[in-house]
Amino acid sequence: CAHPSAKPESAVSPYACQRRTTLDNHNKIFTDALEVLAENLELCGNQGPSLAFRRAASMLKSLPAALRRLEETQHLPCLGEHSRAIIEVQHEPRPSLSVSTHISSHLSCSAPAEALINTLSHRFLFYEDISKPVSRTEASALKIIVEEAVICVNPSATVSITGGFRRGKEFGHDVDFIIKTPEAGQEDVILPAVIKRFKSQNILLYSDLQESTFDLRKLPTHCFEAMDHFSKCFLIIKLKREQETDARAGKDWRAVRVDLVAPPLERFTYALLGWTGSTLFLRDLRRFARLERGKLLDNHALYDKATNTFLPAKTEEDIFAHLGLEYIEPWQRNA
Ligand code: CTP
Ligand code: MN
Ligand code: MN
Ligand code: MN
Repeated sequence: CAHPSAKPESAVSPYACQRRTTLDNHNKIFTDALEVLAENLELCGNQGPSLAFRRAASMLKSLPAALRRLEETQHLPCLGEHSRAIIEVQHEPRPSLSVSTHISSHLSCSAPAEALINTLSHRFLFYEDISKPVSRTEASALKIIVEEAVICVNPSATVSITGGFRRGKEFGHDVDFIIKTPEAGQEDVILPAVIKRFKSQNILLYSDLQESTFDLRKLPTHCFEAMDHFSKCFLIIKLKREQETDARAGKDWRAVRVDLVAPPLERFTYALLGWTGSTLFLRDLRRFARLERGKLLDNHALYDKATNTFLPAKTEEDIFAHLGLEYIEPWQRNA
């Protein structure tokens, strides 16, 4: 039979870690609407419904082509009643006046703005700058700055870009770096030294250093941990502009958010995977490991509950293999 809808649907997995999600999104009109909603719900403290919309958007991003007819959603996972309603509204020829009020009417929104403003207030001075996306060119310029500082402190250390830029994104809200130190213990001293160097170079606008609370003897064996215990810092760095684009302001730099993490060498692979994201990809990878494989994955380790052992991994490929998953490249993890 030649009719496309009669053909068995090539199954889309409900787990993001079993889908290849590149930046080539053929369903942007739907995913944008779903993500705006998810964001609003998140700010209102509705984490559950927000996640449901994020999952729906993420699934649509992995599709090889645009949805043409609503019936095509029938065999797709991760779509609840509300997500289908959004897709339906977006499908209509007239401009959808208010997709979000449609949903907001179902879900209460308490005032969360105050908490958000509090979080941002200490960065307020640079808020305008850091709310502007960081380009790949700016990320590369920052890599040189971070690398120079790291190598100056420890010539045997190396710096890799992680986060969205490792997944091939052209823009990010920050730039994430992971530092590899070949000697044990170095991971605990490198970040304070790098911060000190940025200070002396007069390019540090803000720093929040979180010292390592990692303890190899206390690796989790009952549930994975959402936050890792590695030495890390959240920085705001002055980045010189290539050209004076804002001559009126007379400011030849912009403020950029930078995250640095320095795990112990034997934890590097798990940390790299975790910090590469995307957040939703990692969330599903962990969920898949736990529910489908009886294994616990976090930024520190991969633990097999059946054998009560930690599974070693030299590369990210090793971790996917332990989980019985096809390897998904970083640029296919944009779930
Ligand atoms: N991450 C983490 N632990 C932290 C902070 C971040 O494991 N303490 C992970 C996040 O879960 C995410 C990745 O690091 O998977 C990158 O985080 P983030 O910079 O927030 O997102 P990006 O994917 O880089 O997106 P953007 O371009 O907006 O920065
Ligand atoms: Mn394509
Ligand atoms: Mn990032
Ligand atoms: Mn980050």
